[in-house]
Amino acid sequence: MSATFDSMWSDLEPVGRTSNGGYRRFAWTAQDHALREWFSAESARRGLDQSTDRAGNQWSWWWDGPGTVDEAAAGRRGAVMGSHLDSVPDGGAFDGPLGVVSAFAAIDALREAGFVPSVPVAVVNFVDEEGARFGIACAGSRLLTGQLAPERALALTDADGTTYAEALRAADRDPSTLGRDQEALDRVGAFVELHVEQGRALIDLGVPVAVSSDIWPHGRWRFDFPGEANHAGTTRLVDRHDAMIGYADLVLGARTVATQRGCVATVGKVQVTPGGVNAIPSHVTGWLDARGADEAAVVAMVEELTARSVGIGASVERESWTPTTHFDAHLASRLRGVLGTEDEVSVPILGTGAGHDAGILATAGYSTAMIFVRNPTGVSHSPAEFAEPDDCHAGVAALAASIADLAGSAAATSTTTSAATTTPTDGGDR
Ligand code: GLV
Ligand code: MN
Ligand code: MN
Repeated sequence: MSATFDSMWSDLEPVGRTSNGGYRRFAWTAQDHALREWFSAESARRGLDQSTDRAGNQWSWWWDGPGTVDEAAAGRRGAVMGSHLDSVPDGGAFDGPLGVVSAFAAIDALREAGFVPSVPVAVVNFVDEEGARFGIACAGSRLLTGQLAPERALALTDADGTTYAEALRAADRDPSTLGRDQEALDRVGAFVELHVEQGRALIDLGVPVAVSSDIWPHGRWRFDFPGEANHAGTTRLVDRHDAMIGYADLVLGARTVATQRGCVATVGKVQVTPGGVNAIPSHVTGWLDARGADEAAVVAMVEELTARSVGIGASVERESWTPTTHFDAHLASRLRGVLGTEDEVSVPILGTGAGHDAGILATAGYSTAMIFVRNPTGVSHSPAEFAEPDDCHAGVAALAASIADLAGSAAATSTTTSAATTTPTDGGDR
């Protein structure tokens, strides 16, 4: 089992790697194509049944029972595991791929142990989880579940002005098929996403894996600041309309207001027009990422920052919003029982400030859980993101045990809607 994990991991390592040791694996690019080919090859190597849904997510189904996987899935909803293969700009190797590689390795481990599932088991690769290219995080799972309208997705543009529709065509996909896919959804009974931990809780607790309880509310907003281009040397300070000043106010305001309201706020992406050292900026666009444990506080923070920027002439648009998401508490406690004991120390239960496809599925009403694998650096969305090989193997074992439990009984045969205690996410469709 650890051998198959290790060899898959080495195969993926060079794909999309940059000179700083990080990764640029953006949706519907050549790097993404190579990752999708890798997924297909791993699926074929295991004799699994492959399909791609209307959102472009890849599925790979394991069913050794009587009849085809389609027939089996029609009566028995499956136990699904997986994550995503794309990355943020200069992201780490683990955020996403760890969940997909571990899922294939878990199938190998279960087969090696002679396990025969009583419901179909799948590995999924969700497309464009990070939203690094087109701006909307979890685009694949939002499209799949109808939480992002295809018309809106198709019109999104990347930094070069390429639309999502054009990117799909360039990747040999027909944009007119994009959208919610009920047939694919009808096969899902329960979903378990294994993910590298994106903080330091497991290091401090001294244990390799945890189960997740919930995801903080979070969203992205686009702020556009107008200005007037002019000469950097000859324009008097009093005569300037410098778009950068409003943007600077947003950046500093975000830190101040987040501190006051107990939230976090980040302005991690900016576009300056015309972008010349010796030209006063005529336009600046900045993207705010806002999150926090308390939904009302996050909303109030963004309202305050919006009012402040609008007051100096900016326009503000919400691009996406995901309210507090609770995973299925019954499933989490069941997995904690399978993975250890109901003891806080052996298998901790952690909340997270990071968004995940699992959260989108939970909001859509699917019984969903996450398993976190210890990250000794506590760093994520950076080349410093890491997990020790032994902990990765412990993660595979935990995932295999979880799927053995779900696919060894009738529990994965129906969706559990206890997770759907949240209002729908918003991919920006208003
Ligand atoms: C995804 O990793 C996010 O939380 O932005
Ligand atoms: Mn991420
Ligand atoms: Mn991720």
